[in-house]
Amino acid sequence: MMQAAMKLALRADLLDFTTTPSWGNPTMDGVRFRPDHWLLVDAGRIVGAEAAAAFAPGPDWQRHDHRGRLLLPGFIDTHVHCPQLDVIASWGAGLLDWLETYTFPAEQRFADPDVAADGAARFLDALLAHGTTAAVVFSTVHRTATEALFAAAGQRGMRLVTGKVLMDRHAPDGLRDDVVGAERDCEALIARWHGQGRNAYAVTIRFAVTSTPEQMAMAGELGRRHEGLFMQTHVAENLDEMKWVAALYPEARSYLDVYHRAGLLHPRAVLAHGIWLDAHDRALLRDTGAHIAHSPSSNLFLGSGLFDWQAAIDAGHGVSIASDVGGGTSLCQLRTLAEAYKVQALRGTRLNAWTALHAATRGAAELLGLAHEIGHLDTGALADLVVWEWAHGPVASHRDAVARGALPGVQAQDLHARVFAWITLGDERNLAATYVAGRLVAGVRQTF
Ligand code: GUN
Ligand code: ZN
Repeated sequence: MMQAAMKLALRADLLDFTTTPSWGNPTMDGVRFRPDHWLLVDAGRIVGAEAAAAFAPGPDWQRHDHRGRLLLPGFIDTHVHCPQLDVIASWGAGLLDWLETYTFPAEQRFADPDVAADGAARFLDALLAHGTTAAVVFSTVHRTATEALFAAAGQRGMRLVTGKVLMDRHAPDGLRDDVVGAERDCEALIARWHGQGRNAYAVTIRFAVTSTPEQMAMAGELGRRHEGLFMQTHVAENLDEMKWVAALYPEARSYLDVYHRAGLLHPRAVLAHGIWLDAHDRALLRDTGAHIAHSPSSNLFLGSGLFDWQAAIDAGHGVSIASDVGGGTSLCQLRTLAEAYKVQALRGTRLNAWTALHAATRGAAELLGLAHEIGHLDTGALADLVVWEWAHGPVASHRDAVARGALPGVQAQDLHARVFAWITLGDERNLAATYVAGRLVAGVRQTF
């Protein structure tokens, strides 16, 4: 691992967003592409960008010359489970079976502090090696495992939002808490970690099935008691789950309403999935400022359903992009975005590359209230950056050459076409370097 240079200049093609790009057919609205620029970083923050044709950093700048590569803000994964690297790619189950058969046993192992510490380090290093520099993460029910995750993020200087999972029913031995013990653990974790460095605490209800109404009420109270807490949970993912929640909460209008009644919906609330919502629910999301972490690879892999992004746009509520590993099949947000395109294609809609990328960068940061810090390349942002090869392997390289018009007799395509091909064909093998607050933390095969 390299030390952070005080003054670091990174040469690459810079891509980010200044505002929300238009939905539907791609336009360049909100897209900022600065080919062959130096991005200037001082003391971990972006301080400017200059065209390489007109500017050369002086000797007081350490230079990382990534010319010919693409530099983006680090991806933000708004919903992912640390203990579930053990169960990624497990065969043959829908959500409820999958939890019983694979996931709960894996999470039970995190009761062991050594397993939890190893798991936290492996997970965060894997995020960085897949181009994700900030994440909203499910830990397990265990306080020590959650401590380990916060500590490991602090060591890496990463932006992390996480919390101890709340589960006081319908979960096996070793994974259940109770209202009093859970409240005590949450209070201790909040006091120790919330707002420490780049860590923030999320009240973490696994889903309405695994918490009693009393625990829900306690969770809502925690959120009101402490400034700036996040809330994360799952909602309306799977039809069997929908039926179960309706039977457990007959008084609620809908699954989402269960959370609303407990006071859990607010602008820092992140709800994974939201496939089986209705128009009332979508309006409730808009009105409360809560948003959906769309998890396409998980939704396809577990056979949960096809998220209606168009309906979210029409209702005006936020959507970010999440891997949801281990229900999801890759930590790489490029792969996740490629799956998102296919989900919308199955719904008869074509997701453009700008909307997709924005939802994994600036859009996610804005929805989380973190746009002062991450998600873009504005001056003043922390330098959480990822440098990507435009293509990896012969097929992607050929496709990229077509897009660039680098083949004889082939006209160059527009930038959207090139970036869309990059998203669709790319994955973590395209990653050249990851920086957290200006420090190189992954990807060392380049020479400067
Ligand atoms: N619903 C409740 N728990 C989980 C989980 O771990 N993963 C997913 N995808 N859905 C859930
Ligand atoms: Zn999940």
